[in-house]
Amino acid sequence: MCGIVGYIGFMDAKEILLKGLEKLEYRGYDSSGIALRNEAGITVFKEKGRIADLRAVVEEDVLANTGIGHTRWATHGVPNQLNAHPHQSASGRFTLVHNGVIENYHLLQEEFLQGVDMKSDTDTEVIVQLVEKFVIDGMTTEEAFRHTLALLHGSYAIALLDAAEEETIFVAKNKSPLLVGVGEGFNVVASDAMAMLQVTDQFVELHDKEIVIVRKEAMTIKNLDGTVIERSPYTAELDMSDIEKGTYPHYMLKEIDEQPSVVRKIIQAYENEQGELAIDPAIAEALHEADRLYIIAAGTSYHAGLVGKEYFEKIARIPVEVHISSEFGYNMPLLSEKPLFIFITQSGETADSRQVLVKIKELGYPTLTITNVPGSTLSREADYTMLLHAGPEIAVASTKAYVAQVAVLAIAAYVEAKSQRIEVNFDLKKELAIVANAIQSIVDSKEVFEIASKDYLSTTRNAFFIGRNIDYCVSVEGALKLKEISYIQAEGFAGGELKHGTIALIEEGTPVIALVTQKSVSLNIRGNVKEVTARGANPCIISMEGMEQDGDAIVLPQVHPLLTPLMSVVPLQLISYYAALYRGCDVDKPRNLAKSVTVE
Ligand code: F6R
Repeated sequence: MCGIVGYIGFMDAKEILLKGLEKLEYRGYDSSGIALRNEAGITVFKEKGRIADLRAVVEEDVLANTGIGHTRWATHGVPNQLNAHPHQSASGRFTLVHNGVIENYHLLQEEFLQGVDMKSDTDTEVIVQLVEKFVIDGMTTEEAFRHTLALLHGSYAIALLDAAEEETIFVAKNKSPLLVGVGEGFNVVASDAMAMLQVTDQFVELHDKEIVIVRKEAMTIKNLDGTVIERSPYTAELDMSDIEKGTYPHYMLKEIDEQPSVVRKIIQAYENEQGELAIDPAIAEALHEADRLYIIAAGTSYHAGLVGKEYFEKIARIPVEVHISSEFGYNMPLLSEKPLFIFITQSGETADSRQVLVKIKELGYPTLTITNVPGSTLSREADYTMLLHAGPEIAVASTKAYVAQVAVLAIAAYVEAKSQRIEVNFDLKKELAIVANAIQSIVDSKEVFEIASKDYLSTTRNAFFIGRNIDYCVSVEGALKLKEISYIQAEGFAGGELKHGTIALIEEGTPVIALVTQKSVSLNIRGNVKEVTARGANPCIISMEGMEQDGDAIVLPQVHPLLTPLMSVVPLQLISYYAALYRGCDVDKPRNLAKSVTVE
């Protein structure tokens, strides 16, 4: 949800900022802008649309060694050039970019900024106007910045330029992610390390309510009362090849293809010296202590949580509730006596999930975050973390992170069951290796899905996904994938539920994609397919070896029945990918979305 960058040093800031913003485009892509600082002052370029549109308006001959930039996912104010960041104060002395939401901006405007002519509809502009007001009242820029921050309610990652202080970028963070990168003779600012890997792999983490005075040769972290904080940089364990598309046309396709190796990497990451699957003993203990698990997540991660419930209940015999994070925080159910909260979040930054984590910590209950991003907010703030080891996921639609989440949940449940001497009649490590091979064979035969998708989905208005038991959990994820990237209205249903209302929507030719990987309910789900076919639906049955029938569109390799979600989601990802492609949609950056949703 918006990305910010900053550079101060000796190189061409313009190119570094634009390249950085290109890497952050996954965080929002409805408008963008940069501000360049040189002896002549501060020059702002901003534009509606993608970074490519911004590039087209940035004047090549403006040279600067200092600058800040922003890519936006609109919250307050429509996405247009006026509301794009950077925003400037009335006199033009201060220029600022912001990621987050200022909840009390109206009140602050009424109290302090009567008579100031606001140029945009954004909450952000209030921040830059306040800094200027307090400087006019007699404060130094740093004092005015700190004073302003203390008045803000909400989330922010901010970079501020002062035309009168050539050598400084003022930076602040609360709830929105922000890092400062360290180089030789330069320093940088970024919402995500991948934006600045082009110049450094040394980053300093910032905590909430800290400010940083960033200069060319130094940077000073302070808290809001001005006390200096010492913190050493860490090395970002990221490789440029992890964040490049390479020869792939889209990140989504690359990430779908990476799934077999993600599963293999997870097996390795959760192996102990004896080669057995293992988890941090403290997490095992927390799972053991809990009388009920509460899984909290949003979107695709919530769908992974639905599968996780099956694992913890069926393998480890621990009762589980799965909740949508945006609902849970404001409508908490009655809790058990010894709950353990598990937050599933690819990014580790989702505001809806974080607000629950904050409340749960206040209540004093133990918390575990399952995330792809080490050092992310939810990872830092929870008691325990399990990492996904999926590598950066850049396409907005999640694919490999879902598979990683399901695999890690399976490992946690399995290891817990083993440690409690609960009888488990399969070897998860071996079964996961079989899954990795099965996914490989699916991604190796993409043409099947390309053709199926072109004929089946490229012109449809809507589509349904059905499944029973664990297949139902996957059908909701399949429907989300299709709708978010192809804009086809799609819904996932429990097979038996269709006839209780939704079947009224079935028309001649309506696509119904049915998953049939669970023997115990295969006849029932095939019965549901017959019901919709009798009413004109165009079914596509995805079954598994051992329970296939003539007429099934796709037969998947056989894997352990509990692990089918790791495999059966892959054809649904591929079908969605090709449907979006044939409909001319922007696969990696679907409209209205952003990868990391840092507003509630
Ligand atoms: C859909 C998708 C989203 C995310 C959701 C939560 O493809 O990626 O539904 O799953 O926004 O994000 P995280 O997992 O980062 O908390």
